[in-house]
Amino acid sequence: MAIAGDLHGAWGDADEKLLNLLRPDAVLFVGDLSNGNLHLTRRIALLPHPVAVILGNHDCGFDKNGGILHQQLVLLDDCHCAWRVRRWERLSLSVVGARPCSSGGGFHLSQAVKAVYGPVTLDQSVERILSAAASVPADEPLLILAHCGPTGLGSNPDSPCGRDWKSPAIDWGDQDLSIAIDRMAVTRPPDLVIFGHMHHALKRGSGYRQSLTQDRRGTVYLNSACVPRSGLDQQGCPFFHFSWAEFSGTCLTHLSHRWYAPDGKVKYKETFPLMRPMRH
Ligand SMILES: [Fe+2]
Repeated sequence: MAIAGDLHGAWGDADEKLLNLLRPDAVLFVGDLSNGNLHLTRRIALLPHPVAVILGNHDCGFDKNGGILHQQLVLLDDCHCAWRVRRWERLSLSVVGARPCSSGGGFHLSQAVKAVYGPVTLDQSVERILSAAASVPADEPLLILAHCGPTGLGSNPDSPCGRDWKSPAIDWGDQDLSIAIDRMAVTRPPDLVIFGHMHHALKRGSGYRQSLTQDRRGTVYLNSACVPRSGLDQQGCPFFHFSWAEFSGTCLTHLSHRWYAPDGKVKYKETFPLMRPMRH
């Protein structure tokens, strides 16, 4: 499957032509599609591929009353999987959505999210994620899609969810997601947790963030926020970033960051060495 990191408006005909060449089983979007550009959201909802989206903090636009967020949800309809499971008729895949529009930093609901979803508590958010995860069939991967990753992945500026824009660096992950993962791991640890929000390039040119980690239970965490995800390389050639995941049954067999040329050729690739967890 292809995973698109935070778009921040960078999506167009070339991206869609590329997906038509790659023909992934599914395309996952980690949110921050734009600052509330409904035209872009409509394009994504109409993609001719199985699509799952979790909206990010930027997707509410500047509308604190939730009007833009509501319109985004209408356009995305079943594609949006916050606090529920996204499934498809002809695909043995379920995507469990975490809390929508997260801005990280523990647990916080924006005014727009409260206006649309109501005053959801941390415990309620945990229960909703757990309930969605419990419905995933045992013969399918347990895959979680979130805008910001969970707490517990490190407190350094270059940790997968580390705060790099303000000192001191702290763990800026989502607390409800972390609690939900710990609780679901009692019976079944997630196979892959995908998120964005925390851009790979660190502030003030201080390097790049660790974008993958695997815990001792075998759960793999992927930060897919390569921003900008398209542009020109040093030779002036266009590139487009997708993360790419492959499963055999419930077992994650391949995970990489890929930068594609417009013709679908992989120009650069960063493949992650996956440790085989004891449970497989
Ligand atoms: Fe974000």
